[in-house]
Amino acid sequence: MRSPLLLLLAGGVAAGSVIFSPDDAGHPSQGATASAGAGAASGAAPEAYTQWCASCHGPNGRDFVARTWKLGSTSEDVARVIREGYPLLGMPGYGEVLQDEDIVALTDYVLEQASTERGFRAEAPTTTATDDLTVRANVVMEGLETPWGMDFVDDTTLLVTEREGRIWLWEAGKVKPVAGGPTDIHVRGQGGLLDVMHWVDPQDGQAWVYLTYSKNEPGGDKGSATALVRGRWMPDGPALGPLENLFVAEPYESTHHHYGSRVAVGGDGKLYLTCGERGMRDVHPQTLTTSPGKVHRFNPDGSVPQDNPFVGEPGSVPSIWSWGHRNPQGMTVHPETGAVWTHEHGPKGGDEINLPERGKNYGWPVITFGKNYTGTIITRDTAMAGMEQPLYYWLPSIGACGLEIVHGGDWPDGWQGDLLVGSLSFEYLERLHLENGRVVQRDRLLEGIGRVRDIARNSRGDLFVAVEGTGKVYHLVPVTQD
Ligand code: HEC
Repeated sequence: MRSPLLLLLAGGVAAGSVIFSPDDAGHPSQGATASAGAGAASGAAPEAYTQWCASCHGPNGRDFVARTWKLGSTSEDVARVIREGYPLLGMPGYGEVLQDEDIVALTDYVLEQASTERGFRAEAPTTTATDDLTVRANVVMEGLETPWGMDFVDDTTLLVTEREGRIWLWEAGKVKPVAGGPTDIHVRGQGGLLDVMHWVDPQDGQAWVYLTYSKNEPGGDKGSATALVRGRWMPDGPALGPLENLFVAEPYESTHHHYGSRVAVGGDGKLYLTCGERGMRDVHPQTLTTSPGKVHRFNPDGSVPQDNPFVGEPGSVPSIWSWGHRNPQGMTVHPETGAVWTHEHGPKGGDEINLPERGKNYGWPVITFGKNYTGTIITRDTAMAGMEQPLYYWLPSIGACGLEIVHGGDWPDGWQGDLLVGSLSFEYLERLHLENGRVVQRDRLLEGIGRVRDIARNSRGDLFVAVEGTGKVYHLVPVTQD
């Protein structure tokens, strides 16, 4: 299972040695034997450690002292990680370059270092237990300001935006800045650099990065609008090629909130973009003549598909797919059906989940389960002819942001197909268990973790969660119960 990347990393460790032969691996030293099990964590490292591990994990196993294990703490777990590696986090596998006895010695040494009492105390890992599973959250990125959007480039490479305008590439555990993002970002209120999507054109194999953001009104006025751009993906930079402006959800407004916005390519190969109503509920959601408060649908090059519902209707914005939305900040595409799922912030109560369908009106603010934040009534109507009911609504609001579907990986059967939704207001991650397309159970995961902004899944089912405020990205790992 060794990929060229791993070989490269392993090669880099043995500084100067061009070709590797297993004999170079060295043998457990006296020191290692002495330290194993003797509680003397300061014992000398096995030679193999110094040769193969120290460059990343520090001299004398420093990185393992008082460690909070990410991948398991038994000697089987540690030996497995050393043998097979863990590409997602940048740990190379050594099964083909080290002898079994070296792996045993390294395992003993690493465990020994981890249990040392040299003035450090391991922090308890963040875990969360539900009826059927314990989930651990490993920190994989920290020091961000307001992470907003995430999307995987491949299984070990993640793009992350910060609302302040920065783009980062996380690659097998290492973080690099990505150049070439937009420069006319309105970083104010809820505005800023928002979502990111990596997409490969199946026609010609060209990789693109799409970004959404709140764009300053050209000419320096105070307005802003949700905008969609894309640039060619240049992984070597890493950078984006010249940006193409695909869409601006006009009109520009002087408010600084309810931009949406999420971008995704549906199972039909079309690009969907959610736009919030800019806090102007009586102006935008119930008209087809403006763009805010809608889900839009494009061809991936930004042109409008001719089978969109309002194409050719005089005065209508032709990219509108569905309308009557408030502030949709979650969208994902079902990995099996290809259907587009969204959720949107309601007011006080009335966050809702929808599967936006062609031409349909989702009712805001004519029908809603929510109230004004002050508690006053918006409307008593929760249903009306010609307006859609949500698949699910939250009362009270959780401040929904980010949406993913559990799929694949080591997740148990009972979790497959469930929804994960971030809660900004209550600072946890919500799991919604579905049966026959209906929400039948809710679990609060990672309570108190902070304002959950986004969730991303790679094709292997790994789930990452971005939290603003603390500025961290977590990798969720199902823990098999012993
Ligand atoms: C190229 C850098 C690199 C090299 C070389 C490397 N590792 Fe790692 N290793 C990592 C990264 C990154 C992780 C992910 C965990 C983390 O964030 O610390 C990791 C994780 C581990 C873990 C799991 C830790 C946990 O918390 O569960 C063990 C055990 C480990 N390495 C042992 C070794 C040993 C032993 C060697 C030498 C044979 C080695 N590593 C060489 C980068 C490296």
